[in-house]
Amino acid sequence: MKLIIANWKMYLSIGESVALAKKFLDKLQKSKNEVVICPSFVALQTVYEVIKKNGIYLGAQDCGWGDEGAFTGEVSSKDLKQLGCKYVIIGHSERRHLMNESEELVNKKMITAMKSGLKPILCVGETAEERREGEAAKVVKRQLKSAFAGLPINSKPDIVLAYEPVWAIGTGIAAKPEDALTMHKIIREFVLKLVPKGSKLRILYGGSVTSKNTAEFLKEKEIDGFLVGGASARMDFVEIANH
Ligand code: PGA
Repeated sequence: MKLIIANWKMYLSIGESVALAKKFLDKLQKSKNEVVICPSFVALQTVYEVIKKNGIYLGAQDCGWGDEGAFTGEVSSKDLKQLGCKYVIIGHSERRHLMNESEELVNKKMITAMKSGLKPILCVGETAEERREGEAAKVVKRQLKSAFAGLPINSKPDIVLAYEPVWAIGTGIAAKPEDALTMHKIIREFVLKLVPKGSKLRILYGGSVTSKNTAEFLKEKEIDGFLVGGASARMDFVEIANH
């Protein structure tokens, strides 16, 4: 079973989100894969009403790093959990790069999310320049090390990571499956040293995934699924999720 996550970013209005979730239902409720939809904060509740009894899970695209208090504009992970979220995306490259989210902040969000009982989907990935300079693995390891510092990890954590090269997100240029695979192996080896033995670790690929390139990635056993942006806000997602 693969884990296939739709990251709807800020693509859809509340009405469009509910309409698309309804269209997905028939086609996804019997999927052999675990399917998760991450709508915008304001659409979480209404989308959840549509999917909750149909075997599709809800995720948020981000969460605040504080538990509660004076954090204007933030949304707590406790509330997200209460709304029905199972997962939360943390450290997405658009947040790291467009909103200047630091590695320290990503770590704080990981801690709060885990304390609230949400499963973080931690995103890591290098920029085009970092790859050109041969720094990709070093950057990804640094992001992982910092994100995992001081986590309230129980004895059997279920960890989801998404390798999303920044240069592949929203560009139409996906990583080559063999390059993704190389990085997945590096990530797996590195993270297994940071978490207790027997931890469940799933590593997804993200960055310009469409129904056209799904099969070549899934040939690689090490790729446990996808985090899909643009194509997830269209019916294309059904084909990706049912692969
Ligand atoms: P993309 O985005 O599929 O549009 O490239 C992936 C992501 O940002 O998670």
